[in-house]
Amino acid sequence: MKVTVVGAGNVGATCADVLAYREIANEVVLVDIKEGFAEGKALDIWQKAPINLYDTRTVGVTNDYSKTADSDVVVITSGLPRKPGMTRDDLISTNAGIVTSVTENIVKHSPNAIIIVVSNPLDVMTYAAHITSKLPRTRVMGMAGILDTARYRAFLAEALNVSPKDIQAVLMGGHGDTMVPLPRYTTVGGIPVTELIDEETLNAIVERTKNGGGELVKLMGTSAWYAPGSAAAQMVEAIVRDQRRVFPVCVRLEGEYGIDGVYLGVPVILGKNGIEKIIELQLNDEEKQLLETSRGHVKEVMDALDNINAAKA
Ligand code: LMR
Repeated sequence: MKVTVVGAGNVGATCADVLAYREIANEVVLVDIKEGFAEGKALDIWQKAPINLYDTRTVGVTNDYSKTADSDVVVITSGLPRKPGMTRDDLISTNAGIVTSVTENIVKHSPNAIIIVVSNPLDVMTYAAHITSKLPRTRVMGMAGILDTARYRAFLAEALNVSPKDIQAVLMGGHGDTMVPLPRYTTVGGIPVTELIDEETLNAIVERTKNGGGELVKLMGTSAWYAPGSAAAQMVEAIVRDQRRVFPVCVRLEGEYGIDGVYLGVPVILGKNGIEKIIELQLNDEEKQLLETSRGHVKEVMDALDNINAAKA
């Protein structure tokens, strides 16, 4: 299996590193626009192989997409990260141009690849990559749900003083303040979370999760990378090993949840064909309302991208 990761910054390099040391692919190609940057990161990861005992080959290239040819999966992390005080949506005009041009290069050399978008604003960059690629919606998806859910699970594990391994959860909607937490579907070793935690603490954890990316931007002056890079690698693993894992993933909805033509995070089954199935939960009225608010917000940003593209045409 060959996997390409575009963007050798913190998120892309972390993803490539996880793909290598967990031997998820035989070959990982890291691409960056900055001369020598991807080559250096790939070489560093390769030199770690004799220490951490893996044989995945990591190769770095400067903007040479011919070396990515026939990739099975491509992860797009390119674009600017946000700085303190910025929202993810503030990145739209810069990152849309970058994601569009990267996607064009990718499909030219790997027409059968499955594409995972990580760049922000996530849901709308997934839209940009999907319309550029002209691939079926099952093959172009966004990574955010695993990350948001991981943050929620980590905060819960801390509050309950239990292993994060035993916390199962799902979050839906856009990657931002309007994400839709579903405490009703959260369990700890099979026990509904509401039996183990009071409402006030749970609500505080939900709020912290919604602002999880922003909390890290404030602390570090730039966006997170360990959890986002690992989350993208987990999606790649589910695809290349045909694991049929159930994850929240951003995809174009076509009637599911009564939504058409908007890109939102929903639970899916992920396997060798990409999105094998979209799972439709029976949401209650409050959850439906939260999802509708999230849909409205993502649609506004999609419309902003359409306006940018129309002005360029
Ligand atoms: C995250 O949630 O960590 C990413 O979307 C990056 C960001 O700017 O928050």
